[in-house]
Amino acid sequence: MKRTDWPEWSKAALAARESVLASLMTQALTRPGLLSLAAGFTDNAVVPTEIVREAVAHLPADGSALQYGSNPGRPKLREILAARLARQDGAASPALPADRFLLTSGSQQALYLAAQALCDEGDIVLVEAPTYFVVFDVFYGLGLRVLEMPMTAQGQVDPEGVAALLKRLETEGELPRVKLAYFITYYSNPTGLSMDGAVKRALGKVFAENAPRVVALEDTAYRDLYFTAPHPTPSLAALPEWEGLSFAVMGSFSKCFSPGLRLGWIAANLPELSGAMLRIKAQQDFGSGNLSQWIAEYAFASGAFEPFVASLRIHYAAKARLMSASFAENGLNKLGWSWEEPEGGLLLWLAAPKTLDTGLESAFCRAALEENVLYVPGAFAYADPEKAPKNRVRIAFGAPRGADLAEAARRFAKAASQFA
Ligand SMILES: Cc1ncc(COP(=O)(O)O)c(C=O)c1O
Repeated sequence: MKRTDWPEWSKAALAARESVLASLMTQALTRPGLLSLAAGFTDNAVVPTEIVREAVAHLPADGSALQYGSNPGRPKLREILAARLARQDGAASPALPADRFLLTSGSQQALYLAAQALCDEGDIVLVEAPTYFVVFDVFYGLGLRVLEMPMTAQGQVDPEGVAALLKRLETEGELPRVKLAYFITYYSNPTGLSMDGAVKRALGKVFAENAPRVVALEDTAYRDLYFTAPHPTPSLAALPEWEGLSFAVMGSFSKCFSPGLRLGWIAANLPELSGAMLRIKAQQDFGSGNLSQWIAEYAFASGAFEPFVASLRIHYAAKARLMSASFAENGLNKLGWSWEEPEGGLLLWLAAPKTLDTGLESAFCRAALEENVLYVPGAFAYADPEKAPKNRVRIAFGAPRGADLAEAARRFAKAASQFA
């Protein structure tokens, strides 16, 4: 039957563009022979299969781990996370106590909850340039406006530039619409860079002076995946410059444990913000997977978690080196490409020669696909793709195995060589 009676789509459905990430992931999973350096998967060889098996073998006989959990999440796990954040921050006690923590369905839900708790349609969110491209789906899906914060040539947020931006917004009467500023502070997606301690502190002063009602959202998804030493800068929770301001710190079990658990967390310093997110979360799922949380809790309680993350650091540090070395061996730098060696995370951020367009529709992208290698065009990581640099590429080295990494680099460099 031919359909004539289409429903009238909601604004949310209309705003939900086909997600770039979803289509890249589908391509990565379905196209035979394609080597994907696009989707941010982790390495199946180092997901915590043994730990999870052991955890499941120890499921409580009373069935409680397979029952509904509570909306904010398992109390013990929240305590563990609060204590762990304090320890990572070098703080004597948690600045964000356990009752501010919410376990979420992936940290993706944390992003969404923060945005929903704070923003109405037409409100403004500030982001780094570049930033994690999936947040645009979240923010634009909610009808928000996204503004890029000025950045330095070193890829850091420029506090003076942010002050000037906030002043300009005030003059234009738009400052009250600015609700959220989103930062990825450790081994960022896509750049692999971490926020400098001085910048983080300076930003506290900038917001205190210019926009104290704006909530900072600190995404620490990759914090655990440092290659040699933990990044020395604590989270916003432990910086005196941020005292008295509003912020939330969020994290994920995806990169440091298992993406399949779909487990993340968010902790706001304002109890009211935690409360608002919790009420919205109740509408969405009244609690994230209790079994996943139980497994994470077991991993901590059994002492398996920290050694496991330590092993991931070694694994991904080696992959980062291999990826970078393979690009170099295949002559990518001689073709005018450059990149910095990351100190953590799962990503390389390449710069092609200035005039080379790497966009999804570009000749280079077609050449790469013909070589059966996939990447994320860097322009997606900017709020305004029209104004974004066209010559950037995000490379995810998490999933492909050793020989495939080297082969993917070879194919990529071969595609690049056609445009030298
Ligand atoms: C910076 C950043 N934040 C959040 C997420 C969301 O991850 P998840 O929902 O798996 O926790 C990702 C995923 O790649 C990410 O890179």
